[in-house]
Amino acid sequence: MDQQRTEMLIVDKDVENLDKSEAVKLAAERLRTGEVVAFPTETVYGLGGNAFSDEAIHRIFQAKGRPSDNPLIVHIAEKNQLKDYVTSVPEHAEKLMDAFWPGPLTLVLKHSGTLSERVTASLPTVAVRMPDHPVALAVIRAANLPLAAPSANTSGRPSPTTAKHVYEDLQGKIRTILDGGPTGVGLESTVVDCTGDEVIILRPGGITKEALERVVDKVGIDPALFEGNKAVPKSPGMKYTHYAPAAPLCLIDGDLIFFKKKVEEAEAEGKRVGVLVTEEAAGVIQAHKEIIVGKKSDLAAVARTLYVSLRAFEAGEVDVIFSEVFPETELGSAIMNRLRKAAGGVVLKDENNS
Ligand code: TXA
Ligand code: MG
Repeated sequence: MDQQRTEMLIVDKDVENLDKSEAVKLAAERLRTGEVVAFPTETVYGLGGNAFSDEAIHRIFQAKGRPSDNPLIVHIAEKNQLKDYVTSVPEHAEKLMDAFWPGPLTLVLKHSGTLSERVTASLPTVAVRMPDHPVALAVIRAANLPLAAPSANTSGRPSPTTAKHVYEDLQGKIRTILDGGPTGVGLESTVVDCTGDEVIILRPGGITKEALERVVDKVGIDPALFEGNKAVPKSPGMKYTHYAPAAPLCLIDGDLIFFKKKVEEAEAEGKRVGVLVTEEAAGVIQAHKEIIVGKKSDLAAVARTLYVSLRAFEAGEVDVIFSEVFPETELGSAIMNRLRKAAGGVVLKDENNS
């Protein structure tokens, strides 16, 4: 792929008439000619391209090094855009859109064949969401296109929550990054399958199962998401290694005494240990490098800083990273889903204390 000079265009997300700002107009113009543009959403930065254009979608996959069988999420700014891309909108999907859009919820629906086949990886369904970020919405409106956008990281790396992370990964591979400051939620959207009678969570995220259940009767979970289950996930992206930090990650499932013991054992083997711990644990656990990932009592803060924390360990700096685990309710489910993937399933469990 040709090397390109990567430009960082700064946008103030709080100004009025963002659609008219020079940076947004330039980004929209480039999207209309089939280029790709990285932009902020409320979850993570996305790498957007015209969802009608095979060429633009090809560019997204190339820049990320993403496997072509992993479909993209289409981002829209108005609910009535949807009818042009899907065959029908079932009642439960309508309720979810009314409750959570704009916001971190992606709906999988049957598509009508109008978008590029590369967006949907030739599946009969398409994933759609309306982001809750003024810059993302302004870009979609100004381009007047549905934008296919995966997270703007190199495939396999933690998703970017700042423009600098996008630059680290995609510098030289894309021309335009819109820098609208750090994102809010910090983890990607919840993906739900709305093609059947029951709503099914394919990827846990910013909107929790508990929140969904307040709006629709029954919410299921793709069995492949449960630990140790060998079923093939319905969301193709969930089968790949993801969010990998610079050294192997291992989850420590036990109390702080157990955690300390594991650090000491690894150090005794001559390993330089990095730890990913909450504020509450930081005073107790010492290691070669400590990164604090928010407070255990505030899971929203943990979600917001998880990816920047995983990126904070530099290559060659530590030999292994140990991380705390979190309760799997509310946002904890999404946090643990990402941590397990980042760890490739490696967990040290305190069997004496379970
Ligand atoms: O918060 C987000 O969702 C971010 C921002 C940029 O919007 N985007 C994002 O995209 O996380 P990506 O490509 O990293 O993840 C999309 C996920 C993948 O797991 C993919 O397999 C799944 O959505 N997906 C896309 N289309 C699908 C479909 N038709 N059926 C099932 N899963 C689908
Ligand atoms: Mg991603």
